[in-house]
Amino acid sequence: MLVLGIETTCDETAAAVVERSGDGQGRILSNIVLSQVSEHAAFGGVVPEIAARAHVEALDRIIGKAMAEAGKSFSEIDGVAAAAGPGLIGGVIVGLTTAKAIALVNDKPLIAINHLEAHALTARLTASTQFPYCLFLASGGHTQILAVRGVGDYSLLGTTLDDAIGEAFDKTAKLLGLGYPGGPQVEKEALRGNATRFTLPRPMHGRPEPQFSLSGLKTALRLDAEAIAPLSDQDVADLCASFQQAVVEVIHDRLRAGMKMFRARHGAPTALVAAGGVAANEAVRKILQRVAFEHGIKLVVPPGELCTDNGAMIAWAGAERLALGLTDPLDFAPRARWPLEDIAGPKTKPGMMDA
Ligand code: KG4
Ligand code: ZN
Repeated sequence: MLVLGIETTCDETAAAVVERSGDGQGRILSNIVLSQVSEHAAFGGVVPEIAARAHVEALDRIIGKAMAEAGKSFSEIDGVAAAAGPGLIGGVIVGLTTAKAIALVNDKPLIAINHLEAHALTARLTASTQFPYCLFLASGGHTQILAVRGVGDYSLLGTTLDDAIGEAFDKTAKLLGLGYPGGPQVEKEALRGNATRFTLPRPMHGRPEPQFSLSGLKTALRLDAEAIAPLSDQDVADLCASFQQAVVEVIHDRLRAGMKMFRARHGAPTALVAAGGVAANEAVRKILQRVAFEHGIKLVVPPGELCTDNGAMIAWAGAERLALGLTDPLDFAPRARWPLEDIAGPKTKPGMMDA
């Protein structure tokens, strides 16, 4: 089964062709990602209107490249998948409308994909991970702990009450005069910093509900930075190191609570799976490894280019749904908001769909 996948929900214009064999194995034939980072850098964040226009300008070319690299024509694919939300609505409209046009002209089924579902299922593309597994999704827009029980069967265990973790990294970088996106910059600075110099809070520590809260941490960091301004290079490094250490400890504690809730509600997970840009952080990866070790399960972290936004994850989610006979009508509406739990799954019993 061959599926074209299109991703335009944020600041990456991406398209990919992915194959899913009958036994559920995945293979990426092409995966083209065009980042708009340089177009948004001057603003210190993604500007929705600029993003939507950039998607319009680039998408046809990116899709053409993905098809050419895969060596396939539209007539050879079995379905067209596009991220239909959640995300910046202008971009979502661009990707979904393009997918509808390709599907209509070539008489192929459309699969409207929830962007979060695509992140959730990536571990099955890269590591054939079996259900049920615990997903830690941490990106610029999302921070969630989920029980992934089957295609279309997701249960939210915990999320953030305010900022997403990636967003907290980005805001910290902005406050300290580092570039955008902030995560990689903060990580780099933290390497030469003293993580014990500033005493920052560990919000929600010890609470049984696996919720996150990052805004108090961000405010504490700002107050510490203001108290010693102007900042030397070493001050910036020490603030980054102290911030990252606090985030890592928060993730450790919150995931422990999440795993406990997972086991109580859904039994033992087969794996701890990480997704989203924050999983590119080495210190975060180390703590995820530790959590997995503590629970005697494996850690699955897809390669960096599949953790951040890409077309292959959309194509793969499309293939997983298509394999279950799940397609969508051409009037499917784009959605700015689309919680994972609202997703329609197959009408079979959970646990019966690990095909
Ligand atoms: O998944 P992603 O590419 O896009 C979405 O937000 O959907 O994630 C981007 C986020 C940004 O907030 C970025 O600062 C963060 O992931 N990030 C990192 C690192 N690399 C990217 N955060 C911490 N450490 C990193 N190395
Ligand atoms: Zn994403």
